Amino acid sequence: THYYGAVINPQERNPREPISYKVYPACLIIVSPVGQIVDMIAQSDIVDFQEKERERCDEAVTVILSSDEFLMPGFIDTHTHAPQFPNLGIGQEYQLLDWLKDVTYPMEANFADPDFAERTYRSVVRRIIDFGTTTCCYYGTVHLDATKRLVDIVRDSGQRAFIGKCNMDREVPEDNLEPSANDSIQATEQLIDYIQNLTQASDSLLIHPIITPRFAISCTPELLRGLSDLAEAYNPTLHIQTHISENLDEVARMGELFPGNTSYADVYDSFGLLGRKTILAHAVHLGDDEIDIIAKKEAGISHCPTSNFNLTSGVAPVGKYLDAGIKIGLGTDVSGGFNPSILNAIRHASIASKVISLQHNPSDPLKPGYNNRKLSVATLLYLATLGGAQVCGLEDDIGSFALGKSFDALMVKVSSEAGNPGLYPGGKEDVDKYLRGMLERFLFCGDDRNISRVYVQGKLIGGNDCIE
Ligand code: GUN
Ligand code: ZN
Repeated sequence: THYYGAVINPQERNPREPISYKVYPACLIIVSPVGQIVDMIAQSDIVDFQEKERERCDEAVTVILSSDEFLMPGFIDTHTHAPQFPNLGIGQEYQLLDWLKDVTYPMEANFADPDFAERTYRSVVRRIIDFGTTTCCYYGTVHLDATKRLVDIVRDSGQRAFIGKCNMDREVPEDNLEPSANDSIQATEQLIDYIQNLTQASDSLLIHPIITPRFAISCTPELLRGLSDLAEAYNPTLHIQTHISENLDEVARMGELFPGNTSYADVYDSFGLLGRKTILAHAVHLGDDEIDIIAKKEAGISHCPTSNFNLTSGVAPVGKYLDAGIKIGLGTDVSGGFNPSILNAIRHASIASKVISLQHNPSDPLKPGYNNRKLSVATLLYLATLGGAQVCGLEDDIGSFALGKSFDALMVKVSSEAGNPGLYPGGKEDVDKYLRGMLERFLFCGDDRNISRVYVQGKLIGGNDCIE
């Protein structure tokens, strides 16, 4: 398929320059039948190209964008909980530990019933896709059967995903508790095998299993060790996701349960769970030693600002993490976060950085870096796309448009027919400025009505155009 129109493309992070993105007012992207980008030609060459390749063009399906549409890479949600969607917006009076006990664990207990899980997960996945999330890191519940249903639904949807069954063998209510570390490990292995068999059978590698020790508090040392051995046994394919240092009471409880460790990050590290395939959600209250070790081990951080504001956990110092060279992406963390859209995470990441910048004296404008500064639009876009891809270890495959990468893309429409008037920025004299304006408006004022098509690996899987 040939796509022709305006394109917005995040650029790789380069330590010597601020994060940036490029706009192409007219660009031809050629996608192979297996969904790979095989050619990308910017404006000035287009006429040339059409002359030379007219025949090939005629044969191919060509999608031509209008002047108020653009293509951008799909969003990557590096942290969400599929079973918590029925709780969206609920529990406003709570902080983390009581919220888990009173609001979250009771909801998750319902997923002992696979049919309940199936009904719920169907609408959850549909919704996440239509919000423009092309790759999603899902937590299920402790239940193997329910999590298998989630796998089936995501596979049928065409979304790219990491899917994990939560591991919890202590400090949770009876009906969320796994009988033993061994049972938990065995069920995890069954899910891994289930996913690997499915992806091999379908010749596609869109769904990855991910080991999901929920957080240090809910896992005995025995379980953490077993999961680490499991990750090692399946090396190099297996990722790990967990929570770290979200809330101060949580950090204190972790300290009581692991008196021999020097920090939260040290707990995961001491069990061999901190590596380049580890995704750490939140990281609100890390010490400098923890930042060092996470950077050194090349683990990634999922920044979940909506959740951190909503559960009054704190404000994560994203700029500091960027300066430390840590991989970082965005997470919606439903239902700690009350909105499943990465657009919303982008807005709250911006606000979080503005809150931090307000609390600090203006830093030396000549000194480079992100710490204590507002995040730019380019940085926010980066976190939502390429940054997330890096956190998932998929930066060679997704996160931006480049030769050889998969075409995981959004077609964004900002005209008033899109049903969200006020987005149209007008004034097209300066095309570059116009497109940058469209992007900024979309990121801050857009919603799912503006996402007309969602593609994963070249296949149309959702978006507003697909809704009857
Ligand atoms: N820490 C452990 N479990 C959870 C969860 O479900 N949500 C959030 N936000 N933090 C957690
Ligand atoms: Zn979470």
